[in-house]
Amino acid sequence: KDLKRKGLKQANNLARDFFRQVLQRHDAAAPARQYLAGRGLTPEVLERFQIGFAPPGWTSLLDHLGKKGYRPQELVEAGLVIKNEAGRYYDRFRSRVMFPIWDTLGQVVGFGGRVLDDSQPKYLNTPETSFFSKGRTLYGLHLARQPIREKGRVIIVEGYMDVITAHRHGVTNTVASLGTALTAEHGKLLLNYSRDIIIAYDSDTAGVAATIRGLDLLLELGCQVRVITMPDGKDPDDFLSKHGPGPWEELIDRAYTLIEYKLQQAAARGHVKTVADKTEVMRQVFPGLAAKSGVQKEEDLKTIARVLNLSWETVAGEFKRFEENLG
Ligand code: GTP
Ligand code: MN
Ligand code: MN
Ligand code: MN
Ligand code: MN
Repeated sequence: KDLKRKGLKQANNLARDFFRQVLQRHDAAAPARQYLAGRGLTPEVLERFQIGFAPPGWTSLLDHLGKKGYRPQELVEAGLVIKNEAGRYYDRFRSRVMFPIWDTLGQVVGFGGRVLDDSQPKYLNTPETSFFSKGRTLYGLHLARQPIREKGRVIIVEGYMDVITAHRHGVTNTVASLGTALTAEHGKLLLNYSRDIIIAYDSDTAGVAATIRGLDLLLELGCQVRVITMPDGKDPDDFLSKHGPGPWEELIDRAYTLIEYKLQQAAARGHVKTVADKTEVMRQVFPGLAAKSGVQKEEDLKTIARVLNLSWETVAGEFKRFEENLG
């Protein structure tokens, strides 16, 4: 059984080799080469991240790995091939830029495949297999492990391109949760390397919701979590490509704590105009403040006062009343 598992994993490594050769040599991959160059990916980066291209044919990989002795059903179990209702087998990934996904040892366990245009789905992933689970895998971790230990901090982003662009700019302690659902398994995995975690998800609706869930989940696990926010709708790839690593490191140094983030979100939604709004925001953030040290409390109360456009005295007075009601 282990032997079989190894064979299926090996099929993914062979698929990576195939997709890379196609990207480098195939005429049909010319638009992909152009696309990747346009996104700033040099040959060195393509090499480091083992990026490839799945050709447009329906059975290109099926045929290639068939010659190497893989049966169609094995390739289905490896996540590379699909069997339709009529019993026909065909390649899962066609006409897509292929990003291999690795386990912590650098073995390929799956892929993300991106279209070159605006068609949907934008990314197609390997399904859950006997050796690949999205909720337990962090993209780029095998490259980021050592840098995370050295820097004592890890940055979590959403996507493949966010990781690649961060590494390209030297911010090598970056991994992606592939989409937006951070799990407790992800958190535990990261805790093997560092407690100091920065969430840098996209600043769109999905990203904000995922940030709040991720914050709660990681705090629960005992991590020290802070959050970066970017200008509207942007992601780390956009930001780094536009501004470079200097401003990015500054954003990281000024990352928000949970309380600052919640305040900032409330303010950004324009939800803190009336007295009732301000009271509601305080009601939401005070419970998180109660257990903190005196110095931290004072800092947080200042932040609250600033965001709510109230005097420090007023906010401190409200907090005192809140604490008295607790006791
Ligand atoms: P680019 O447009 O290439 O910069 O991608 P992005 O990473 O910025 O995409 P987006 O912010 O929309 O999504 C973030 C991550 O979610 C992606 O990197 C993928 O891992 C995942 N994702 C995005 N779209 C899809 C999709 O349609 N299906 C699946 N399964 N995952 C997706
Ligand atoms: Mn999307
Ligand atoms: Mn997004
Ligand atoms: Mn994005
Ligand atoms: Mn992007």
